[in-house]
Amino acid sequence: MHNYGIKVAAPDDLGGARVVMLDALYRDFGTGYVPQWHEDVIDLEGHYLTPKRHTLLVAVDQEGVVAATAALDSRGPRQPEWLVERYPSGETAQLRRVYVSPEHRRRGLARAMVAELLEFARADGGYRSIYLHAYRHSPGALDLWRTLGKVVWEDEDGTVHFEII
Ligand SMILES: CC(C)(COP(=O)(O)OP(=O)(O)OC[C@H]1O[C@@H](n2cnc3c(N)ncnc32)[C@H](O)[C@@H]1OP(=O)(O)O)[C@@H](O)C(=O)NCCC(=O)NCCS
Repeated sequence: MHNYGIKVAAPDDLGGARVVMLDALYRDFGTGYVPQWHEDVIDLEGHYLTPKRHTLLVAVDQEGVVAATAALDSRGPRQPEWLVERYPSGETAQLRRVYVSPEHRRRGLARAMVAELLEFARADGGYRSIYLHAYRHSPGALDLWRTLGKVVWEDEDGTVHFEII
């Protein structure tokens, strides 16, 4: 891997983390910021830094710029009902906001950050499974998650639900 530092985000990193996240929402996903889906991006501190069972990692480049983000919270999927029951909130670690700025991709950052999130989830002791969803059209996303887990379900909108094993 190139010269990056991966660390738990501190309050000073949150502005840079938000830039990476919003850039992905606008450029990669094309949805832009949608309040009912992305409220955590606005309140990163309240969502990831304060709760003990949540975390937000950042990768910082040699100039001190945030190049990538990766987060985890204790919320399971929102729907459908069978998926909610299979991955209940509180017992499910959800990987979220795994975004790498375009110029820093394919250098192992996502893989390294996800490995740290999996360690965090295991150390918690209360998580029974690790879940995430990704969008079929997101650059690199399905390729990455297929190397780390199995597809549980793909819905008609092209959202692919994974369990990490
Ligand atoms: C998906 C994403 C996070 C991958 O980040 P990354 O740091 O480039 O990934 P890594 O370098 O750690 O790649 C790990 C493995 O994933 C796979 N992979 C990642 N990107 C890929 C791509 N564009 N094409 C094919 N395989 C890819 C490869 O198997 C890769 O291993 P390799 O490089 O040894 O072949 C990044 O492309 C991204 O931010 N995409 C847009 C946002 C997004 O969709 N995020 C996922 C949200 S669910």
